[in-house]
Amino acid sequence: MTEKDFLPKNYENLPQKGTSTWKAPSNIALVKYWGKRPIQIPANPSISFTLDTCATTTTITFDKKKNTGDFSFELLFEGKPKEDFKPKIVTFFERVEAYLPFLKDYHFTIETSNSFPHSSGIASSASGMAALSLCLMDIEKMMVPEMDQTFFNTKASFLARLGSGSACRSVEGPLIEFGVHDHIPGSSDLFGVPYPFVVDEVFTTFQDTILLVHKGEKQVSSTVGHQLMHGHPYARNRFEQALQNMDALKPIFAHGDLEGFIKLVESEALILHAMMMTSMPYFMLMKPATLEIIHKIWKYREATKVPVCFTLDAGANVHLLYPDHVKERVHQFIDDQLAKHCENGHYIHDRVGLGAQKINS
Ligand code: PMV
Repeated sequence: MTEKDFLPKNYENLPQKGTSTWKAPSNIALVKYWGKRPIQIPANPSISFTLDTCATTTTITFDKKKNTGDFSFELLFEGKPKEDFKPKIVTFFERVEAYLPFLKDYHFTIETSNSFPHSSGIASSASGMAALSLCLMDIEKMMVPEMDQTFFNTKASFLARLGSGSACRSVEGPLIEFGVHDHIPGSSDLFGVPYPFVVDEVFTTFQDTILLVHKGEKQVSSTVGHQLMHGHPYARNRFEQALQNMDALKPIFAHGDLEGFIKLVESEALILHAMMMTSMPYFMLMKPATLEIIHKIWKYREATKVPVCFTLDAGANVHLLYPDHVKERVHQFIDDQLAKHCENGHYIHDRVGLGAQKINS
């Protein structure tokens, strides 16, 4: 599919008013997307577990108005007006307007809230952009009722990508691939696709406990981080390595190879941060507690052989990944050894999920 396939034909009827609510989850990448070109085209393919508990719920209420050539909307975050989110929405609307030409025909009230605390250091852009895109697709579906579910999901993912690259992996689950890879049929730089190969059941029950090491704003945004991959001395090797890691995952997923999974996923996390530390200007998002936790995980795994590993996002928090059958033991390990490294002892238990849900009012 190309961009053109997402341009709608003329709408037959524009509803006067209505509402739509969607809940979209966050996701955690196993092979990371780091480096892009305009607009939100990834430098390498990535794959993520869709999460379940960490999610954004968004309601859009729309009212027909005279098209005056402007976007018209209000934004409420957790019930209160949120002016500083508005520029991001305007940029998003500008990017998607060609694909949703009804945007200037309505006044929108956008109400959004997260299941996780605002100051948790968990980025809400993936879940937020996915939820918003799904609401907008719902409105488009009212105008094009014959639209099928596959197109609905694909276009929602396409729109979400234009808001935040990784958001395109938050529409469906449990494993979503984003970015062209010659060996992955259907893969695209424009939207996420459900991973098309065999995945052993052990991976569909995976748990992700997010250890909240640092709840504040990070010093360097992922937008800036992506840009720093231009002219990065290791970029070319990194992009090549991501392609190879995507290939390496195929037998790992098929055979439920936990050892292979752990090696690949931890290596990907450290590479992401190595890219940050070796860009110019260089920066570091890990904190001392991030490293304390990583060392404790290695020591615990060595001693117990429990298949638990970590991954990192663009931040200091640690995602602890483990299969469901070792849940009790890992929870004990968290309480005994890891919680003390978290800000105020806080962590969030999440797990692999099946994707976004429409909420009926
Ligand atoms: O979606 P963005 O532009 O915020 O980039 C996300 C990048 C990482 O979270 C670090 C990796 C990934 O693939 O999710």
